[in-house]
Amino acid sequence: MNLIDFDYNFYGRRSVLEILKKRVMGLKEGYRQNVALLGSRYIGKTALLHCMMSQMEDEDVFFIYLDLENRDFDYFSVQFTKSLLYNYLKKENLPLQEDLKLLCAEAKDHIPRTVFLVQAIENFTGQGKMLEAYHMILSLPEVFTQETGKSVVLIFDEFGHLENFNIPEVFAELGKRIMTQKNCLYIVASSFPQQAETILSEKLSLLFGNFETIPLQPFNFSEAQGLIDQNLDGVKIGLHLKNFMADFAGGHPLYINLLCQELICLSGVYAQQEIYAPIVTQAIENVIFNRWGVISRHFELEINALTAGKSAGLAVALLGALAQGKHKISDLSESLKLKSPQISPRVNSLQDSNIVERNGNYYHIKDKLFSYWIKYVYQRRLHVIDLEAGRSRKQFKEEINRALNDFGVVARKDLSVRISDLMHKFDNESFVLCGRRYKLTAFRDIKILKLRTGTGNYFDAISAQGQEGLWLVVLKKDPVHDNDLNGILEEIKKLDPRPLRSVIVSLSGLDENAKVRALQEKLWIWDEDQLNCLMHLFDEPIIVR
Ligand SMILES: Nc1ncnc2c1ncn2[C@@H]1O[C@H](COP(=O)(O)OP(=O)(O)O)[C@@H](O)[C@H]1O
Ligand SMILES: [Mg+2]
Repeated sequence: MNLIDFDYNFYGRRSVLEILKKRVMGLKEGYRQNVALLGSRYIGKTALLHCMMSQMEDEDVFFIYLDLENRDFDYFSVQFTKSLLYNYLKKENLPLQEDLKLLCAEAKDHIPRTVFLVQAIENFTGQGKMLEAYHMILSLPEVFTQETGKSVVLIFDEFGHLENFNIPEVFAELGKRIMTQKNCLYIVASSFPQQAETILSEKLSLLFGNFETIPLQPFNFSEAQGLIDQNLDGVKIGLHLKNFMADFAGGHPLYINLLCQELICLSGVYAQQEIYAPIVTQAIENVIFNRWGVISRHFELEINALTAGKSAGLAVALLGALAQGKHKISDLSESLKLKSPQISPRVNSLQDSNIVERNGNYYHIKDKLFSYWIKYVYQRRLHVIDLEAGRSRKQFKEEINRALNDFGVVARKDLSVRISDLMHKFDNESFVLCGRRYKLTAFRDIKILKLRTGTGNYFDAISAQGQEGLWLVVLKKDPVHDNDLNGILEEIKKLDPRPLRSVIVSLSGLDENAKVRALQEKLWIWDEDQLNCLMHLFDEPIIVR
């Protein structure tokens, strides 16, 4: 049993990796499509970029990777020039150096124009002439490409921080270069998608410099399971516990890694060959409940950063209410005994910080585990009266055990029961699921039934009375084929009254023909991702196939 090697445990993200690689290869072939990778903090943008670069090490392109988070212009300048020269020397099998002057000396005979420019940049920076230096840095890839015939891929991680360099028109200048330097591919990443989209659309959106944005989400259920398997590498663990962990961590690779690491340590301590429930609860307690547990500490720092400044108390109370399941402004204001106009700006600012997300008029803490921690650890700490040693810990342990049991109970429920439970929660909301808007009315008379088609097949189904008419939801765990769909459509047409709205819930998707047909007939299709999106919105555990 080995500890996790955090340098080499990258998992999944295949489709995004493929796109990035395709864009890099495209550049070599004269087709350039810049990319913006957007997603919450710690979701895996940097890890993904590093993985892409290491997998493309042998390609004939030069990567310049700069993480700009909390960096100043001096760092940008030195790191930019050093990276370019270092990578050049490495690729050419020339002696490597770390110091800029030595790098210049080593590369001078091979790429004199590039080195000349690097020295000029260093001089300008030394004299405090940042604007001139910045312009020159941006022209460096061009000069290098002219001199070597090689393409450059510039990666700016947390690129929004360029703004902090105090350089006038920092993005406009970058935008100009992006437009004219066709041999340079720009990949930018940001943990603040809204801010990034604004910069991209308002400041960098020059005609030929458009960016393709790729959103990076938490892992879906099967990816999360895959990462757990990879991390535990042969250590036995029951499927139920694995599923629970995937759901509990909300698909965040970082939390999965840290939990697995703790599990490995504990199973060593207790000399266990297999991981059982008590070890899982102990691991959760160690990393999430204990004050110095790594995830607990991480969340505490997040809270501190979010609540710096005035009205910190309100921000904390707001996060608490959101974690307690108050999702609408009206519910939040009732719970906090404040008027909506006092609440809205604070919620908006949490949204700007990318902590809270909005769907319809529902607000949610994005990170499931953070929300859990606020509810069961942080708020408890704030409100504890009885300081009897060990009392809170005992209570937390009981809660984790209950969550584990509940997860098992819910997972054993039939899909039809889960969907009907979910439908009971609808309250005339309008949500966007995977890019499509759905209006979900409040239902009464929700009934589970069997739908028998002409060919003798049975489907689980749910009928429910919406405000304007009857809804029919047909469920299938396996893929829905063309003939299934035809049978279902025939039965729907026979129903009296005809349903106002029909929905196909399919955990394994529809085949292409069935999908086209369903759309023609104006059926809604909810697949696993859309369902789990709804489950998340209504604070329900995800659906396990
Ligand atoms: N695909 C992945 N496979 C394994 N671990 C990952 C993956 N993505 C992220 N991680 C873990 O999460 C941590 C934080 O990811 P990072 O890339 O730094 O996030 P971001 O750049 O989005 O803030 C990484 O250090 C790594 O431990
Ligand atoms: Mg990062």
